[in-house]
Amino acid sequence: MKQNKYDDPEFFLNYDQLPRSQGGLDAASEWPAFRSLLPDLVGKRVLDLGCGFGWHCRYARRMQAVSVTGVDISERMLERARADTDDDGITYLRCAIEDFDFPAGTFDVAISSLALHYVERFDQVCRRVSGSLSAGGAFVFSVEHPLYTARAEQDWCLGPQGERLHWPVDDYQQEGPRHTSWLAADVVKYHRTMASYVNTLTDAGFRIARLLEPEPSPEILAVNPGWLDDYRRPMFLLIGATKDIVRTDG
Ligand SMILES: C[S@@+](CC[C@H](N)C(=O)[O-])C[C@H]1O[C@@H](n2cnc3c(N)ncnc32)[C@H](O)[C@@H]1O
Repeated sequence: MKQNKYDDPEFFLNYDQLPRSQGGLDAASEWPAFRSLLPDLVGKRVLDLGCGFGWHCRYARRMQAVSVTGVDISERMLERARADTDDDGITYLRCAIEDFDFPAGTFDVAISSLALHYVERFDQVCRRVSGSLSAGGAFVFSVEHPLYTARAEQDWCLGPQGERLHWPVDDYQQEGPRHTSWLAADVVKYHRTMASYVNTLTDAGFRIARLLEPEPSPEILAVNPGWLDDYRRPMFLLIGATKDIVRTDG
């Protein structure tokens, strides 16, 4: 199922108020880790899956990518991306990640920030990304961490005073949809195990260079001390991979 929750007016209004929606990459706690996985972007053709407001697209151009294509299912997200972008080197396309179809070798780098946990078939995404990348191309993405997506509640166990006792994990091995409440009711996210992320990538012909489960950066904590609890369990999983140049069946 393809859900377009970001075009739901209530959801969009709430998403638009988040610190990362107002402050961009510097307000995103996982951004320093994500940036550390990116290859040199000079002269590269970049694909951004689930580009949202286009923060990563504009960053790629500042890093001298020759062209960037941002793909997103939400017209509201793309409307703001277009309004905030004054750059002919960036193209925004309204398209589901499940449906994009570019000729072989169109891109050198594919990125995706916090969008792929909305997609049911990660295996199909990996195959399409691999097909659209040039040999040796990079695939860098972040998703909500499997320890975070395991339970639909996505919340702490609270003590009598509302204190956060621990982060519960259950149904970890049961992959599939989770009907969560985040910014609005019934937001569908897809839970996958860590093994699935890793093995699906390698099955699609990617070599994993680095896997990160970042803590909030000191800079972010200084602004948002409430994120201290993110030291207690990872919220994000980030993977940097490259298309294996030995294989030819990608
Ligand atoms: C959490 S936002 C992240 C936006 C941006 N990548 C960032 O990090 O600032 C998730 C984005 O993924 C998009 N999205 C969700 N499901 C999608 C799908 N199936 N196809 C394309 N885009 C999708 C949403 O519309 C939204 O813009």
